[in-house]
Amino acid sequence: MDLQLRDRFFLVTGGAKGIGEGVARVLAAEGAVPLIVGRNADDNRAAVDAIRATGGRAHAFQAELCETAECQRAVAEAIQFAGRLDGLVNNAGVNDGVDLEHGDTERFLASLRKNLVHYYDMARFALPELKKTRGPIVNIGSKVAETGQGATSAYAAANGGRNALTREWAVELGKYGIRVNAVIVAECWTPLYANWIQTLPDGADAKRRIEAKVPFEHRMTTCDEIARMVAFLLSNCSSHTTGQLIHVDGGYVHLDRALT
Ligand SMILES: NC(=O)c1ccc[n+]([C@@H]2O[C@H](COP(=O)([O-])OP(=O)(O)OC[C@H]3O[C@@H](n4cnc5c(N)ncnc54)[C@H](O)[C@@H]3O)[C@@H](O)[C@H]2O)c1
Repeated sequence: MDLQLRDRFFLVTGGAKGIGEGVARVLAAEGAVPLIVGRNADDNRAAVDAIRATGGRAHAFQAELCETAECQRAVAEAIQFAGRLDGLVNNAGVNDGVDLEHGDTERFLASLRKNLVHYYDMARFALPELKKTRGPIVNIGSKVAETGQGATSAYAAANGGRNALTREWAVELGKYGIRVNAVIVAECWTPLYANWIQTLPDGADAKRRIEAKVPFEHRMTTCDEIARMVAFLLSNCSSHTTGQLIHVDGGYVHLDRALT
């Protein structure tokens, strides 16, 4: 299946690391040009260099996505560079553990800024260009919206918001031919995840316990597995798919617990 993404320009927030880096890399391998938006200039440069080293094209724009003005500037710079936008991947975020019992309102609101508000801002600022190209939007989300996790109220709320915005935008933007979908992640093995596991006294055991809860093949999802679904949803090969929450999670959310 030819995804026909060659020479298409896609904004990818958080595209320098983890899942976003996977998305940027897979898009570049398809001949598309990921426009990475991230806060860390060194990480951005490293991600772009790695893609260029394999013959792909990529560009990066530094921005702290918690700041609306920086979202606006990054989108404007990307449009100025590319002359067009063919889609948006909202991905950047962090599970920051703002709970109910010990949390407070300011930390809750700050977490929504880290995980939800910039999804809205990026879509809002990209929309005029997306309307011209019928460019789709893919929102990355977390199982936490559906399963809960405990001790992470704000992240759960943000992910509920990501899911709701996916449906809401699919309705609002359908008239422009813009499709909006979400890819829901449960346990995806990223460099950050690997670093965190190493900080635990029983890291290897913790990893095995987490993997055991994934029904299909008892392993974590790879960034490439998420990224390939994102690429499909950005392509015309998914031309009648919109408003969907697609779980690339090894069956974590929906399959029988007896499997684990
Ligand atoms: N890894 C998982 O298992 C998992 C599970 C469920 C959902 N997710 C979701 O996937 C998305 C990506 O997660 P990841 O694990 O790849 O993260 P990661 O930390 O590995 O990478 C995120 C990248 O985004 C950048 N970033 C984050 N917040 C930013 C901001 N406010 N401004 C600018 N740049 C910012 C970081 O610097 C980093 O480069 C998140 O939205 C997360 O909620 C991940």
